[in-house]
Amino acid sequence: MLVISGIQPTGKIHIGNYFGAIKHWVKLQEKYKCFFFIADLHAMTESYEPKKLQKNIYETLASLIALGISEKKSVIFLQSQVPFHCELFWILNCVCPCGDLFRMTQFKEKSKQFKDNINAGLLNYPILMASDILLYNAEFVPVGKDQLQHLEITREIARRFNKRFKKTFKEPKPLLNPLGEKIYSLINPSKKMSKSSPEGCLFVFDSRKDIKKKILSSITDSGKEIEFSPKAKPGISNLIKIYSLVEEKPIEEIEKEFLGKGYFEFKNKVALSLIDYFAQKRKKYLKLVKKKSYLKKILNKGSQKASQIAKRNLVKIKKSCGLL
Ligand code: TYM
Repeated sequence: MLVISGIQPTGKIHIGNYFGAIKHWVKLQEKYKCFFFIADLHAMTESYEPKKLQKNIYETLASLIALGISEKKSVIFLQSQVPFHCELFWILNCVCPCGDLFRMTQFKEKSKQFKDNINAGLLNYPILMASDILLYNAEFVPVGKDQLQHLEITREIARRFNKRFKKTFKEPKPLLNPLGEKIYSLINPSKKMSKSSPEGCLFVFDSRKDIKKKILSSITDSGKEIEFSPKAKPGISNLIKIYSLVEEKPIEEIEKEFLGKGYFEFKNKVALSLIDYFAQKRKKYLKLVKKKSYLKKILNKGSQKASQIAKRNLVKIKKSCGLL
């Protein structure tokens, strides 16, 4: 069984990334053969500064390791260092109808958000993602809910290729972390927490002061009960969910714990709990992020391992579709 997943190096990692995906990855690496990568090619679909991208790659890697992804248990690599992803990308471009791409929610949202940079990469983004997954013939892809549509198109591309040529790909399945699959923005709880709207994000390595400030000033709702009711009380329900994930306590228990207590007391507890949870990981991160040559070595080693498998698989794929 092979598991694969990736993260874009587009900024600091937030608690949505952590509870939706990374925490799950840490567990999966104990049981499965896991490949985790930094999706730097995907990050190029939005405007960026080249120097900043390089810095973000190292920071993302240091974050993943500090959060518990182990280079001994998993293959950790950089997407652009395994050129076979791009080769398969072209092949899959030729089996994916344009209409499927124009219908993707992420494409529609990003084209609205970044009107002056609607590039072809943004449109073809899901095909590169399908290549990342199908290149390794992965069975499972642990992601947050926002990536489900990309997983569905990946399965569709696999089906089309298998039908047009011969059965070459497995259809990969998404793995969701039920409670963490969608963490909402702290200032707009109807939207997911997202690196492209940093004002609503709580980053995993925020300082104590920032965590406290962000949680205390997060949007809550009218009334004062600590009740989990996502429709009527989206803000407080998001915080209850976060607290439940950090403390690993069921939601009903949290509602009982705070029965008759107010928002301030609850938010204070959530902030302290988050500070405590990430304190050691943050210390580790601050040390690791300075060790650039160590980080570089991890990527080089991981990218070599991934390349060996990718190269072997690509030979079979090329044969299937009539290339030499
Ligand atoms: P990215 O970098 O946006 O996010 C990394 C992971 O974090 C999850 N996530 C969330 N989960 C819960 N609540 C949220 N608010 C939240 N925000 C983000 C994402 O679902 C993701 O699992 N396209 C991918 C990267 C990628 C990839 C792949 C993933 C490229 N190729 C192949 C899997 C397989 C992305 O942009 O993730």
